[in-house]
Parts: sequence; C-alpha cells; structure tokens
Amino acid sequence: MKIAFVGKGGSGKTTLSSLFIRHLATTGAPVVAFDADINQHLGAALGLDDAEAAALPAMGEHLPLIKDYLRGTNVRIVSAETMIKTTPPGEGSRLLRVREDNPVYDACARPVELDGGTVRLMVTGPFTEADLGVACYHSKTGAVELCLNHLVDGPDEYVVVDMTAGSDSFASGMFTRFDITFLVAEPTRKGVSVYRQYKEYARDFGVTLKVVGNKVQGPDDLDFLRTEVGEDLLVTVGHSDWVRAMEKGRPPRFGLLEEPNRHALRLLRSAADATYASRDRERYTRQMAHFHLKNARSWGDERTGADLSAQIDPGFVLGEDVTVSA
Ligand SMILES: Nc1ncnc2c1ncn2[C@@H]1O[C@H](COP(=O)(O)OP(=O)(O)OP(=O)(O)O)[C@@H](O)[C@H]1O
Ligand SMILES: [Mg+2]
Repeated sequence: MKIAFVGKGGSGKTTLSSLFIRHLATTGAPVVAFDADINQHLGAALGLDDAEAAALPAMGEHLPLIKDYLRGTNVRIVSAETMIKTTPPGEGSRLLRVREDNPVYDACARPVELDGGTVRLMVTGPFTEADLGVACYHSKTGAVELCLNHLVDGPDEYVVVDMTAGSDSFASGMFTRFDITFLVAEPTRKGVSVYRQYKEYARDFGVTLKVVGNKVQGPDDLDFLRTEVGEDLLVTVGHSDWVRAMEKGRPPRFGLLEEPNRHALRLLRSAADATYASRDRERYTRQMAHFHLKNARSWGDERTGADLSAQIDPGFVLGEDVTVSA
C-alpha cells in the first residue's frame, strides 16, 4: 500500500503520519516512510534527536545514483541525465521493493527503531529559502516521485509519505501515486478549504481521498466536519497528551497512546488495506505516462534536449509480478 498524509500547514500531517507508522511497526508490518514535506519533521516525530535527524541523508543529493540505479538496462532511457522525476519505468528498469536491500536504500534510507519494530526512513532533505525557487524544490520531491513510480509493494507492505498539499504535487502527478490519501484537517474553514481544493484535483484521477479530522474537541467540531466534509470524513482524532509528551522529547511507550487514538489508527489501516484489493495497476501506469508527457512538454524536453515521450514503454504495467532485470 502507498499512503499519503496531506493537509494544510500545521494540521497534523507529520504527527498523524508518525503515529500511523508507529502503529504499523507494532504489528510487525514492513514500512518505508518518506518525509516529502517542506517542513522536515518526520524524523523527529519518529523519535530521532536533532543530531540523528540532521544526519539523515537527503534524497535530493543522491538523485544521480537513484536515476542510474532505477534506469537499469532500460533502452528507452538513454542516460540518467535525461531521466526526469516523471520518467516511468519500463522493460529493463530496476524496481524497488519494500523489504529488499538495494543501493537506493543504502544511500538514502536509515533504519528507525520504534516500539515493536524497525522502519526505513527516507527524507527529501531540508528545504531552504533558496529552494522555494522552483527548480530545486521540484528536484527534491522529484526523488520521491521517481521512487514511488518504481516501487512495487505487496498487500502487507506499507509506504507512508508525509507531504504538503501544495500545488507541486498536482503539477507532477505525485498526488495520484497513492492507494489512499489521508487529508488531515482541523475543524476550521481553512482546513476544510484545503480539502475542497484537493478533492477538486483528485476527482478526475480516481484518487481515494479520506479526511482525518485532527484536534477535534467535542460535538461542535465533529458536527462542523461532518457538515463540511460529509462521507469523506473517515475518523477524527482529539488532542493527545501522548503526542504532547513526545513533543517534549519524553515519549511514553507507544502502547500508552490513548485508546480512542489507537482506534483511529486501526481505522486508518483498515481503510488503507481495503484499497489494495481494488488497485488498478493499468490506470496507475497510465497516469505515470500522462504526467510524464505533461512534464516533458512543459519543460522536460527543452531542459534535456530529448524527446522524453520516447521513454514511455507502452507494454509495461507496474505490478508485483513484474520481473526485475538485473
Ligand atoms: N492530535 C494532536 N494532539 C496533540 N498535539 C497535536 C496533535 N496533532 C498535532 N499536534 C501538534 O500540532 C503541531 C503541528 O502538528 P504537525 O507538525 O504534525 O503538523 P504538520 O501538518 O505536519 O505541520 P507542517 O505543515 O508544519 O509540516 C505539533 O506541535 C504537534 O505536536
Ligand atoms: Mg509536517
């Protein structure tokens, strides 16, 4: 399963991603977690101290390695330099699997030990002021998109991405790379307006979008979300003293997380699990091509001096049964 947490700044994306990842870890499920948000806080939310979080390798700095590895022997991709964030896999490409070891994980992933299990964490790298100019910002989240497009995951394997709900994910197609997208919304007009915007983009692409209400304090908040979001509201989470203690750097055992919040996490998981069965691999692959063509035409062809549409392998479908050529 590929799962995204999106939402307005400060809504609780990182907090809920990290709780969900901890929940998965306690059940022994294999997890690859990506921090693709502008504010890189997932490492800290998973319990890393400042020095450990700062020492995480940035995916954006390993793009040449990532591209070179994923390209494999795919003859449609003539060089790593012509590979852009939307370049889709095809015959000869190397794919990533949740449980394996590979050079991309060696370079970019670090194990994080949690109560009950260890997960892999990959981060885009911190965004600086300069990154807010378009190019670098794209190349950082682009590394995540490339990996997602080359990642095959089984039903009991989880890929969890903490990301912004910003327009970058819409331009690139990143928002279509998930089995389910959890939009974290506080019971406020702003929180709900981000949901509406996301829903609007998502509609034409068959994106499964569910709202997770956060910092919900009582019937008024719940009523507001129910009215504004309707049946897309999956579950709500209240203020958590466990989270607050974690923020202070004193996380109690995860087993001590409040029962209503544990219940909410179980619901998130069943909602995610339920999407796997109805996965449409052909549509998933088709959308890769769609966004690749869009990016090729709008900037990629010009930037690389190549006709990037030729990178699309019409006979390829990303799925667990794809055999990886060495
Ligand atoms: N359910 C909760 N109970 C207690 N505190 C919470 C809860 N959800 C979020 N918080 C707190 O609210 C703040 C913002 O949460 P968080 O960092 O997860 O939001 P975010 O959406 O990832 O923000 P950003 O856009 O900055 O990345 C944090 O201090 C977090 O600890
Ligand atoms: Mg965050």
